[in-house]
Amino acid sequence: MTSLHSRPVTVRPRPELQALMQTDRTLDPGITLPASWYHDPKIWQRERWPIFGSNWVHVAYDHQLRNTGDYVTENLAGWPIFIRRKDDGTLSAFYNMCPHRAGPIVFEGEGCSKNVVCKYHGWAFNADGKLLSARDFGAEAPDNMDLTAIQVGSWRGMVFVCLNPAIAPLHEWLGKFPGEVAGVPLESYRFHSKSVRHVACNWKTYGDNFLEGYHLPTTHPAMSRDADALNYQVLYKGDPRWNIHTMPPRDESTFGVFGYFWPTFAFDVFPGGFAVERWLPRGHTHSDLIFEYFFDDNAEGVEDIVKFSEEVADEDARMCEHVQRNLDAGNYATGVLSPKWEYPLAVFHRMIRDAIGPVDCDER
Ligand code: FES
Ligand SMILES: [Fe+2]
Repeated sequence: MTSLHSRPVTVRPRPELQALMQTDRTLDPGITLPASWYHDPKIWQRERWPIFGSNWVHVAYDHQLRNTGDYVTENLAGWPIFIRRKDDGTLSAFYNMCPHRAGPIVFEGEGCSKNVVCKYHGWAFNADGKLLSARDFGAEAPDNMDLTAIQVGSWRGMVFVCLNPAIAPLHEWLGKFPGEVAGVPLESYRFHSKSVRHVACNWKTYGDNFLEGYHLPTTHPAMSRDADALNYQVLYKGDPRWNIHTMPPRDESTFGVFGYFWPTFAFDVFPGGFAVERWLPRGHTHSDLIFEYFFDDNAEGVEDIVKFSEEVADEDARMCEHVQRNLDAGNYATGVLSPKWEYPLAVFHRMIRDAIGPVDCDER
């Protein structure tokens, strides 16, 4: 493990964060993160472990891992990992990296693998990652040649992983957030479809965009007609890591409630359905924006709802790519935040600063 792995992780909200979450909207939320933080590879390297390695990140669903041997891979902020269903019915997760010479245990994607055998030279491991045999090695394999396990947990059908073993188990880490979605009958919804956009923007550019409703009337005119976007609200309930967005519905509104959980998990509640919206970093220059839709069997207008949501996603992706090009251009240093609308960005940016710690002058 590199020294990054021993960096302490901030888990307790600081007083400034509490202030930023207050309902007094006259507080000055200040300025944005420096533009350079949205494209500097050194900042990305600083972010990876404390943000993506040391928080639980949603990467798969129980329905993809129904049977023994079912696996799903992910590239989590540059760390290839896989999750696999064991024959005792529980999940295990590992870095997808063999200790011999870094070969993959499974190729990218999803599938079913009865045995855990490295694709490169065929070393075999048991379901808990313990080395069983180093095929034709010519000597006894050294000790400590097991796969490296990572934390895995599932909440309401959604599978999360956490690379840092020091972080609390998923259910503890989620805090009071599950109570906010307790009323959404996720278990009675069925998977409908998935879309993936490879967006040319840093993960924070999309995060900034998700966290404010200021852009709705201008970036999403159809969405603003659908519901009362001028009264969009982002509510904090004492935990800076998550917030709930509400927009007063009109008669047949498609959109009404959204939620966000640090660092890149969000959800959208629709009539008779639900979408998970997440944006996984693909290096510092791109993000995969992933939507997964779930609906009740009796939900009405499902295709229209999905089409509408996808149009909004296109509008956001296009806007974020434009913003990113300007952040990259070198003639923009920092932006200003609206006290009325953009205080969630101030919270988000403070959490990023807290996570990565002091930064040299040339990166500030
Ligand atoms: S890299 Fe896995 S067996 Fe060689
Ligand atoms: Fe948007």
